[in-house]
Amino acid sequence: MGFVYEKLNQCLQAIREKTNFKPKVALVLGSGLGNYADTIQIECSISYDEIEGFPISTVQGHKGRFVFGYVEKVPVVIMQGRVHYYEGYSMEDVVLPIRLMKLLGAETLLLTNAAGGVNETFQVGDFMIITDQISSFVPSPLIGENIEQLGTRFPDMSHIYDVELQHTIKECGKQLQISMKEGVYLQFTGPAYESPSEIRMAKILGADAVGMSTACEAIVANHMGMKIGGISFISNMASGIGTQPLSHEEVKLEADKKEKIFQQLVHNVISML
Ligand code: HPA
Repeated sequence: MGFVYEKLNQCLQAIREKTNFKPKVALVLGSGLGNYADTIQIECSISYDEIEGFPISTVQGHKGRFVFGYVEKVPVVIMQGRVHYYEGYSMEDVVLPIRLMKLLGAETLLLTNAAGGVNETFQVGDFMIITDQISSFVPSPLIGENIEQLGTRFPDMSHIYDVELQHTIKECGKQLQISMKEGVYLQFTGPAYESPSEIRMAKILGADAVGMSTACEAIVANHMGMKIGGISFISNMASGIGTQPLSHEEVKLEADKKEKIFQQLVHNVISML
């Protein structure tokens, strides 16, 4: 057994010693959405530091735990705080929690994040349904010996984000009268925000929003055959498009302003799964 798969199984065992909960849906909470986990019917929660070998998030404002529970009748596992590549973890570690949630039973993955708007028709406060992604600026999490138990060596990536799920998100947005955009998410490594020239490049390449997470997670989830949905909250216009200097405080502030409606959106989407 390869090292990565062995570590994954150790983490799985550590969780199984604490709970037998079998989630159907996995949810990753991005900036500003972290409190959503406290609003569901919680059955059990496990701090990341209780799981030996688990990468622990160091970003301010990110709590690190798995929350198991129900959204309406749907059994879910929530990552309250994700792991970012810029924290210094290897890509295998960054995506380990996603693989773990699949091994726990989750067949559907809903990814959320805060992102910078590149598409000039977007506004701060918009939500974007992720239709596709560009991950070419971060190392592939699938580099290294393929874990055959999880998926194939050369997985197809032509439909990473499930079309039906995109439709569900759109419908839920409509019901809540939210301004829903659609577009391509591009992942940079961070932690620095981009330069205006990098954002011009991202735009030329076809990106509508940029961030520092998500795409690598979607790659491993797709490798394992999960059904994936993604929602970006446009917390700021990207460098050179907006006039303000970018800061994590601004990202959090804007995300906090829309927290309740983002929570409602995610809640309604999951209830329909
Ligand atoms: N760039 C990268 N990541 C981000 C941004 C941004 O402008 N906003 C929120 N996350």
